[in-house]
Amino acid sequence: MMTTLSGKSVLLIIGGGIAAYKSLELIRLLKQRQAKVTAIMTKAAGQFVTELSVASLTGEKVYTDLFSLTDEVEMGHIELSRSADLLVVAPASADLMAKMAQGLANDLASTTLLATDKKILIAPAMNVRMWRHPATMRNLATLKADGVGVIGPNDGEMACGEYGPGRMAEPTEILAGIEAHFAGGALPLMGAASRPLTGRKVLITAGPTHEPIDPVRYIANRSSGRQGYALAQAAVALGAETVLVSGPVHLPIPPGAQMMPVETAAEMLKTVEAELPADIAIFAAAVADWRVASASGQKIKKGSSGLPDLKLAENPDILKTVAGAKAKRPKLVVGFAAETENVIANAKSKLAKKGCDLIIANDVSADKGVMGGNRNTVHLVSATGVESWPELDKQEVARRLMEDFARRIGTKA
Ligand code: CTP
Repeated sequence: MMTTLSGKSVLLIIGGGIAAYKSLELIRLLKQRQAKVTAIMTKAAGQFVTELSVASLTGEKVYTDLFSLTDEVEMGHIELSRSADLLVVAPASADLMAKMAQGLANDLASTTLLATDKKILIAPAMNVRMWRHPATMRNLATLKADGVGVIGPNDGEMACGEYGPGRMAEPTEILAGIEAHFAGGALPLMGAASRPLTGRKVLITAGPTHEPIDPVRYIANRSSGRQGYALAQAAVALGAETVLVSGPVHLPIPPGAQMMPVETAAEMLKTVEAELPADIAIFAAAVADWRVASASGQKIKKGSSGLPDLKLAENPDILKTVAGAKAKRPKLVVGFAAETENVIANAKSKLAKKGCDLIIANDVSADKGVMGGNRNTVHLVSATGVESWPELDKQEVARRLMEDFARRIGTKA
């Protein structure tokens, strides 16, 4: 499975700070998306995470010393940054930011940062008063002017017990920034403004449903769940409380999302209704249209009474039910239309039939490889018109869609 990060090389510089433990999760997420991660740890970082854990997760040697003969023989600091596609500093401590802003080079991390001509993304993390100090604010302005991308920090309770800005952005947010960079976007300058779904609840259905025939057999479809899971990840990254109601799939739970596993369409509807109200509801699941009217409680044996007579019954339409709800209708209800022909025309009639605000239409003809694949070409069909996007990978589609949805519902009053 190709991702935006497949084959990309990220040089992760881990600064000193309690948030360094979150960098381990960032490494895991990057590796999961097939990026190569090489890490440099500052001396202070070693107080919070061990070289061994970083090396185990990256699968690479961890670099710490500027003047280690073996390191210089294997890979000097110039070569370290040369072989990377992007440098990420997480956590970026006040000290590291100051060194970067001044161009100091007195350890391996700062020397590498000064010697590189690659893009740099930092995720600051420090005590709220250190963050607000005029010196840090000056350094931040300098770094931004130098073209350094900044993610966070977030507001929240910090390890030191104080409250305010200074918490390192979540690994999923940093990942979203890295993915955005490699997808061709500008390096993010993220702060609270980049998390427009903070305080909002986003409900997403994903995956197929399994409709039992008997205890061992079921009716299903080829949905991988990837688009819905990518949407959940994007919703988390934009700050939303994210609930993912998912049929059976083989995907890791997006970090930060609340997972509600279901099997059948009936269970999916019940779970979705129990999760309302929500601000945005996105129906990305490929719900089975039919179930077996009376599934057998026992395994059906072949032979004895000829072919089984499977009577089908129609499943509830979850999207239509929620879009038509008198009470608790989410502000934005989004459906997906998986079509094999007349994509736009069918999507338009689906928009009306289901009563939703937006249909994301895609062509799932076998030759397009959308079902089970990682790329998607979508058309946004609403009452006001059609917007067609180029082919993108599902993560990028999800990120852009979620930003679009956030714009549609506006900021929270
Ligand atoms: N959907 C749903 N519940 C169902 C069937 C569909 O919530 N029982 C949602 C899907 O999650 C998707 C949208 O409705 O967002 C469109 O589903 P699709 O299967 O493409 O359309 P159908 O209504 O089944 O129409 P058709 O089979 O004619 O294409």
